[in-house]
Amino acid sequence: MTEKDKIYMRRCFELARKGLGLTRANPLVGCVIVHNDRIIGEGYHHEFGGPHAEVNAIRSVKDPSLFPEATLYASLEPCAHYGKTPPCSMLVHQKGIRRVVISNLDPSPRVNGLGIRHMEKAGISVVTGCLEEEGCDLNRRFFVYQKEKRPYVILKWAQTVDGFIDLEREPEDHVGTNWITDEVSRTLVHKWRSEEAAIMVGTNTIITDNPRLNIRRWTGDHPVRVTIDRNGRLSDNAYILDGSQDTIVFTGVPGKYSGRTRSIRVDPSYDLRDLLEELYDQQIISVFVEGGAKLHESFITSGLWDEARVFTGKMSFTQGVRAPELKEIPDETLIFHDTILNLYKNRDNLLHGG
Ligand SMILES: NC(=O)c1ccc[n+]([C@@H]2O[C@H](COP(=O)([O-])OP(=O)(O)OC[C@H]3O[C@@H](n4cnc5c(N)ncnc54)[C@H](OP(=O)(O)O)[C@@H]3O)[C@@H](O)[C@H]2O)c1
Repeated sequence: MTEKDKIYMRRCFELARKGLGLTRANPLVGCVIVHNDRIIGEGYHHEFGGPHAEVNAIRSVKDPSLFPEATLYASLEPCAHYGKTPPCSMLVHQKGIRRVVISNLDPSPRVNGLGIRHMEKAGISVVTGCLEEEGCDLNRRFFVYQKEKRPYVILKWAQTVDGFIDLEREPEDHVGTNWITDEVSRTLVHKWRSEEAAIMVGTNTIITDNPRLNIRRWTGDHPVRVTIDRNGRLSDNAYILDGSQDTIVFTGVPGKYSGRTRSIRVDPSYDLRDLLEELYDQQIISVFVEGGAKLHESFITSGLWDEARVFTGKMSFTQGVRAPELKEIPDETLIFHDTILNLYKNRDNLLHGG
């Protein structure tokens, strides 16, 4: 593997990222075809069900006579199965490409090394592991989904400088959010929503804040809304039950839901792992958990989280709902305007070093 290979692989990653939030349970994949140090074709996987990155890259090449002298770079192992298009590993062979550089192997059962074996059997030279760690980070949602059979879990909350996520509320208090962060942070949260398959909040948060849980400050498909209503405490007037958006309510008390709201039965002693397995079965690759404290704490205690994004605003509440606690040291700290953003990765997790 050469330094030039790494440069072209980084371009694959750049292209792959354009599919974030659009490929759903599929991986993010970018592909570049290089001849004599010149990119002659490139492509990425745009959306779930659409052509694979390799197909798009191969189609973009104007002069097919260059294929035999070209190298194909792909951020993920080319597939080995018939889907909407023939296997990409077969296509690479048919086009006469003789060298392929890959970052990660595809762990999904239908591929899992088979794409590489097909190409090697056809006499193609295959280099694997090019910028493997970066590739793994790019497709962290996909790898957790495939290997752990659950969605990738991102926790997010905003806390005051003295460690509260809300003021103490009385039942007669207003319904709505007591904002802690600034406009920039709120816009960033909507961008993050556009990148994940589902958003989840706890019962109390629906009751106190009545959030819409959609994308208003960014573009993109609304994620599936998810909540738990074990004891039938949610009001029919809650936005989350308005039927306007795909919504899953894990419930112990069957409700009369309309439109795009579905209920999934859970018994009182259910485990978060069961709930995540159910979301996995619904092909939900990632869940963005937006609070409250009790739900976050359940995810933290069970170790079923992969990332946390914690805003700390400049205000103090003195008393109220205590923010969840993370023992980890932040991997990264960003400061914008009056807000600090700490980013954490769960080190006990398979992908982040566990
Ligand atoms: N600053 C922020 O970022 C932010 C974000 C969201 C919310 N908030 C604030 O947080 C407060 C609500 O937080 P909260 O901690 O009281 O409640 P919560 O986490 O929103 O909801 C907790 C409730 O959800 C139900 N639940 C079902 N399964 C659960 C599980 N596995 N783990 C935890 N809860 C489960 C339980 O009700 P049942 O017993 O009925 O099942 C539980 O009491 C509100 O004041 C809200 O404004 C702040």
